[in-house]
Amino acid sequence: MKAITVIPGRPDQVRVGDLDEPRPGPDDLLVEGRLLGICGTDTDIVESHDYGWPPPGRDRLVIGHESLGTVLQAPPGTPFVPGDLVAGMVRRPDPVPCEPCGHGEPDFCRNGLYTERGIKELDGYGSQRWVVDTQYAIKLDPALGDCGVLLEPASVLAKAWEQTERIFGRATWRPRIALVTGAGPIGLLAALLGVQRGLEVHVLDIGDHGPKRRLVTDLGAAFHLGEARDMGVIPDVVIETTGHGPLVFELAELVAPDSVICLLGISPSTRREKAGLDEINKRMVLKNTVLFGSVNASPRNFGQAADALAKADLGWLKRLITRRVPMSGFVDGLHKRPEDVKVVVDLQA
Ligand code: BGC
Repeated sequence: MKAITVIPGRPDQVRVGDLDEPRPGPDDLLVEGRLLGICGTDTDIVESHDYGWPPPGRDRLVIGHESLGTVLQAPPGTPFVPGDLVAGMVRRPDPVPCEPCGHGEPDFCRNGLYTERGIKELDGYGSQRWVVDTQYAIKLDPALGDCGVLLEPASVLAKAWEQTERIFGRATWRPRIALVTGAGPIGLLAALLGVQRGLEVHVLDIGDHGPKRRLVTDLGAAFHLGEARDMGVIPDVVIETTGHGPLVFELAELVAPDSVICLLGISPSTRREKAGLDEINKRMVLKNTVLFGSVNASPRNFGQAADALAKADLGWLKRLITRRVPMSGFVDGLHKRPEDVKVVVDLQA
């Protein structure tokens, strides 16, 4: 079977080559890969020198963590049967395990020894067939079809919103106005989940190309172009997806009292700026501001994401997938075009 393998940090070394068929263990599903979503993490693994780790003793990693496939073979007595539409989870607990990993929350791993499919020391889902332990597989509503490939990014948002809501549990008032910064796939899914929660959602971006403005307004949310301070919106909650450091501190100054800012974006830059930090500190203290980061998702969050996708408008979800490339087009897919939202690899082409 064919698989997409990479040597992290070596863009000239991306290959589509033959690998042995995977052999399912007693608890594994054997899955026919259908689609693989591409995200910024994949670009970082291929192009930057500080992200992505092949399995120990190897120099190549099967890339891909946004999966979608069809079950070919399932262990008896499990909730899975051949034909089920499934996606695999990304992170596995560390071997020690640390306390969160021991309690089924590897997304909160404390010793950094967790592994991640397609990212850190475990082969990913970028192959024509793959196996996954049933405890790390999620069954999807078959009506979702190709849109099931959005499960993994949606799980990151399910966690972000869950954690945000838990933080709001510290007081009795409920947030009303949400701001999402960045209208990429993560930002658009953040907006979807915000609208599903009944919030007034605003999405800010620096560019107005491609379908993102329409995708935002078709959700019933507002699209803003330019600077956060010029929007005329004082958010109660922010989901930040750009990873642009200066924006984070601008947001800390802009938000309403008692607000929560959830950081989801990472940028490869190493900008250092010290301007105004004492002032920001003072404002955050006096306004009870919470600024927190969130990564990955627990099995519970994958379940929440599957529910969120199942109740979303399918026509809207389909418009998020703007380009399909064959396996040989993976490198092309890493480079986003202005009209792209989510690029996916067709694992059977
Ligand atoms: C993935 C997460 C992963 C994170 C860090 C993200 O792109 O969606 O599942 O934990 O990268 O490796």
